[in-house]
Amino acid sequence: MADLTALTRQALEEVARSTDLAALEETRVRWLGKKGTLTERLKSLGALSAAERPAAGALINEAKERLQAAIEARRETLGREEIERRLGAGRIDVTLPGRGEELGGLHPVTKARLRIETLFRRAGFDVASGPEIEDDFHNFGALNFTPDHPARAMHDTFYFPDGRLLRTHTSPVQIRALRERGAPLAVIAPGRVYRCDSDMTHSPMFHQLEGLAVGENINFANMKAVLHGFLQAFFERDLAMRLRPSFFPFTEPSAEVDMSCVFCDGKGCRTCKHTGWLEISGCGMVHPNVLRASGVDPERYTGYAFGAGIDRLAMLRYGVNDLRLFFENDLRFLRQFGSFGA
Ligand code: PHE
Repeated sequence: MADLTALTRQALEEVARSTDLAALEETRVRWLGKKGTLTERLKSLGALSAAERPAAGALINEAKERLQAAIEARRETLGREEIERRLGAGRIDVTLPGRGEELGGLHPVTKARLRIETLFRRAGFDVASGPEIEDDFHNFGALNFTPDHPARAMHDTFYFPDGRLLRTHTSPVQIRALRERGAPLAVIAPGRVYRCDSDMTHSPMFHQLEGLAVGENINFANMKAVLHGFLQAFFERDLAMRLRPSFFPFTEPSAEVDMSCVFCDGKGCRTCKHTGWLEISGCGMVHPNVLRASGVDPERYTGYAFGAGIDRLAMLRYGVNDLRLFFENDLRFLRQFGSFGA
């Protein structure tokens, strides 16, 4: 055991000379590893006599513990130095904004649509849909458009070479829903529609909301109550509403729905062209020919329908003055609606 003191000193020197963590680990293995010098010493105790063994064992263990403590202390020092070195080498500007993902939001038209769907679902309506590429029958014929009706002219309608077309309104969903589900029914159908038209208030693609309720005792007053209730719920305020006589081939009688201007409360402003009223929807009692074309008996059933512009509703609710903003995808505009609420 005479050389144990010398060995320990040598080990401690090697620890002190280990200048990085990898070198220190090598030193540890060399001395304390499974085949390390001190480990071998412990193993060789077996060769000593029973009398010598305890004292020798205690000395080796003591040396081992000293070495272990030295390695631990050295490791801590080297680790701290390593961190200091890295902090000194890399320049990290902790004030830079992070590169995290931005949380998206819903488009204002989508928000308006979801809000509309929620309100009508609450009133007992289902949400129905139909294709954007339609045929003449669903878009016009079954809706009682005479063959020479001006709305069929190329001017308004985008036609495909095979005679199909981009639906010009959501009213074809009336036909599809009635044929699929039969009467009685109450559905709304929000969706994209297309017309060859483009300026500050018209876009070649825009969104409509169709409404249809058919049953045994459905009347004009029901329609008025539902529309008025919807408008007040959508805009979250008391509103006046009026119906003006109008014409649509697929409703009789037909009306235009006006509501008091949400910007001036009916006093008159630029938005309502100083009339105090905003035109918001077309509506009427479903024409018997439409029921018939959809396989519903017009002697037994009556119904009302309405069609409103979703984009216009969204413009009025969110105070947007140019329809085209909805379709330009300018993030500076869209970010203002950056939440998922309605
Ligand atoms: N489809 C009509 C339009 O686009 C609106 C409407 C729908 C009118 C339902 C009456 C009933 O102008």
